[in-house]
Amino acid sequence: PRPILLTRHGESQDNVRGRIGGDTAISEAGELYAKKLAKFVGKRLKSERAASIWTSTLQRTILTASPIVGFPKIQWRALDEINAGVCDGMTYQEIKKNMPEEYEYVIDLSRKKDKLRYRYPRGESYLDVIQRLEPVIIELERQRAPVVVISHQAVLRALYAYFADRPLNEIPHIEVPLHTIIEIQMGVTGVQEKRYKLMD
Ligand code: F6P
Repeated sequence: PRPILLTRHGESQDNVRGRIGGDTAISEAGELYAKKLAKFVGKRLKSERAASIWTSTLQRTILTASPIVGFPKIQWRALDEINAGVCDGMTYQEIKKNMPEEYEYVIDLSRKKDKLRYRYPRGESYLDVIQRLEPVIIELERQRAPVVVISHQAVLRALYAYFADRPLNEIPHIEVPLHTIIEIQMGVTGVQEKRYKLMD
């Protein structure tokens, strides 16, 4: 069996400020996680010469991968975070203030009611994300060597659900905490999972 390691990027400056989306750098805590992750990956995949590191095209995942050495790194646009459209880069408070209608009818009501299908204006829904992940999943299945996927909350919910065989409706609610590695082992007897929390 070969492992697939899934992790979110280290904490970003937007995470600290509560902004959704965006493309900011990582915080000090995020940098510490990047170092710990590199150490973990170095040990865990020591003899795995063909392993590779996949990130999104957003700074926070590329920066999180940067202390990892000795493995090729591949950037996938399909691993970018859910596109929040007109809400990108805003906090929920700002959305409420600047777009009260959007907040009330769209964010608060529709998104809560049907988070899977709710599409941000000029952005994406979880279903859109699931669809664009198809080529990534095909490539992950084809790989024989371990892969470390450094991506984002919504995207990792979808990837995790695919491997853990979780129902579609649960996807937007799966817990994928920061600074935690989810290791998935695909063996002949099925899928096994381990979680490593590297920081609080
Ligand atoms: O808050 C971090 C984040 O990755 C945002 O960029 C993104 O919009 C959000 O999580 C996705 O999670 P949810 O669908 O629960 O809002």
